[in-house]
Amino acid sequence: MNLHTLIGEPWRDYGLLDSGDGRKLERYGGYRFIRPEPQAMWAPATLDWGADGEFIPGSDEDGGGRWYYDRPVPAEGWPLAWNEVRFQSSCTPFRHLGFFPDMAPVWESLREQIADKVEPEVMNLFGYTGVGTLALSAAGAKMVHVDASRKSVAQARANAALSGMEERPVRWIVEDAAKFVGREVRRGRRYDGILLDPPKYGRGPDGEVWRLEADLPGLIANCRALLDADSRFLFLTVYAVRMSALAIGELLKQAFADLPGTVDAGELVVREEARGLLLPTAIWARWRR
Ligand SMILES: C[S@@+](CC[C@H](N)C(=O)[O-])C[C@H]1O[C@@H](n2cnc3c(N)ncnc32)[C@H](O)[C@@H]1O
Repeated sequence: MNLHTLIGEPWRDYGLLDSGDGRKLERYGGYRFIRPEPQAMWAPATLDWGADGEFIPGSDEDGGGRWYYDRPVPAEGWPLAWNEVRFQSSCTPFRHLGFFPDMAPVWESLREQIADKVEPEVMNLFGYTGVGTLALSAAGAKMVHVDASRKSVAQARANAALSGMEERPVRWIVEDAAKFVGREVRRGRRYDGILLDPPKYGRGPDGEVWRLEADLPGLIANCRALLDADSRFLFLTVYAVRMSALAIGELLKQAFADLPGTVDAGELVVREEARGLLLPTAIWARWRR
């Protein structure tokens, strides 16, 4: 299997300005923030970062830490845009800014995959604050957005309103992703595309436990059952786990062996504005027609 890099280029409201010494400097609209980035082992382009805030991690590797500000930053967030989609960005306790900017090249490529279909039906699993859902909706897809968190789905709906897209056909579903997909399989449903961004560990609304390594194969098998030879894609991204792109590529290759189309895999990377250097953020694998 060939591995590819899918490269996120800077856009008006987001850019990776500089990186190095285990940190990165990014712009989110008019604000600049520093976040930990263990993979940035190189030296930064400049030492003068002048950020509005910085997330300093706690001593435990798993999620501790908090934001420190050098200038006032609106606690309720501020609006950003990606193409037609408008959404709220804010400094979250989970060290990110309320959306995942490195997903932009994925949204772009999936929009191309469905460009010639009339009202394709696409499911976004672990859809979080909905920027991917709205990116595909704006390209004409009928969307099913699934996330376990009521708060994330509420933010996704608020982002739909901010984008003037409340009337678009989107089903907003607060449910355990694996449970929902299992139910869709039993109902005999089909989709034109499925996008999934599972966390390493998560919980459904009724306490259902999601563990990536244990639960991904079953979820992929059920997703495969929702797709057919007229479908266009399944796109899987995986963050923050010790896992190779080849491993998830081979998983998809096996699950999609009986469908026409191709499977490939690779790294999701963001291009640094200072030097053009590529910072890896995630791995991905996809089946497409
Ligand atoms: C976007 S994914 C995480 C991927 C992310 N890029 C990361 O760094 O880990 C996180 C989303 O998955 C949701 N989630 C977690 N467990 C879930 C489950 N069992 N079913 C559905 N959604 C779940 C969370 O509510 C959250 O919005």
